[in-house]
Amino acid sequence: MSVYPIILSQTSLTNRDTLTYPFEERGLQFGDGIYEVIRIYQGSYYLITEHVNRLFRSAEAIKLDLPFSKQEITSLLHDLLTQNEMASDGIVYLQATRGSAPRTHAFPPDTPANVYAYVRDMPRKTKNLTNGASAITERDTRWENCYIKSLNLLPNVLAKQKAQENGSYEAILERDGKVTECSSSNIYLVKDGKIYTHPATNRILHGCVRMRVEQFAADLDIPFVEQAFSVEDIANADELFLSSSTSEIMPIVEVDSNQVADGLPGKTTQKLQSAYEKDAGLVKERI
Ligand code: PDD
Repeated sequence: MSVYPIILSQTSLTNRDTLTYPFEERGLQFGDGIYEVIRIYQGSYYLITEHVNRLFRSAEAIKLDLPFSKQEITSLLHDLLTQNEMASDGIVYLQATRGSAPRTHAFPPDTPANVYAYVRDMPRKTKNLTNGASAITERDTRWENCYIKSLNLLPNVLAKQKAQENGSYEAILERDGKVTECSSSNIYLVKDGKIYTHPATNRILHGCVRMRVEQFAADLDIPFVEQAFSVEDIANADELFLSSSTSEIMPIVEVDSNQVADGLPGKTTQKLQSAYEKDAGLVKERI
């Protein structure tokens, strides 16, 4: 755990990794806040601008005043890596809530946001990136504003737990007969040389890696079709893969105990993985 976090709030750091909040803290009591998870490779941020932009979009959506500009938080996030002498692969977790105030549902007046961020080591998931991972399907019971990176993650937590209990890596979420995304990643189906994924509506988180997948597809002349597919479509898919800051671009080779196509990572997925590694400045180190 890191020694130097960023803290922008009326909180105190009681020891190296314990922040002290009052009982009446909006994030703790209402989940009234937002967050970001930013990838770090060899001590450098990947897609930091995209994450900072999304943080501000989420803040605007929940009418939260952030106590910094995009430039200021970017500079603080860079300082965080320097102070922690970060040189490995990891993540930064950043959280902003509506602050500490007596509990009442409506926004408390004159209350500054509570913000903290810290660094954590996180190696690449090389085995799953190379061999692929398995998933289960689960009903998407989340609210209508999944484009906001909100702290309210209970449906995501329950879905991921179910996947884990099943020995699977992810839970693919389905709403009204269509696949939206996964519990903590976006998902794509490849069929006849085209990539299909749920459109970037309020039903999914607009992933920073998803934006890159769209760009890589354009560069590789692979059609990127923003059209939702169904769980039944997976049975006839050529490939399936997911994307996120922590999982990168990961092949999904088994869903609900059924193989996807031949049960091996597909060629299109592998091309996108190579594009990702190049974009993120990674040497090929998958085993
Ligand atoms: N999750 N969809 C959901 C529901 C997510 O929680 C995430 C990221 C993504 C992918 O977004 P991005 O490409 O910007 O990482 C899609 C992060 C990693 C998390 O909550 O830990």
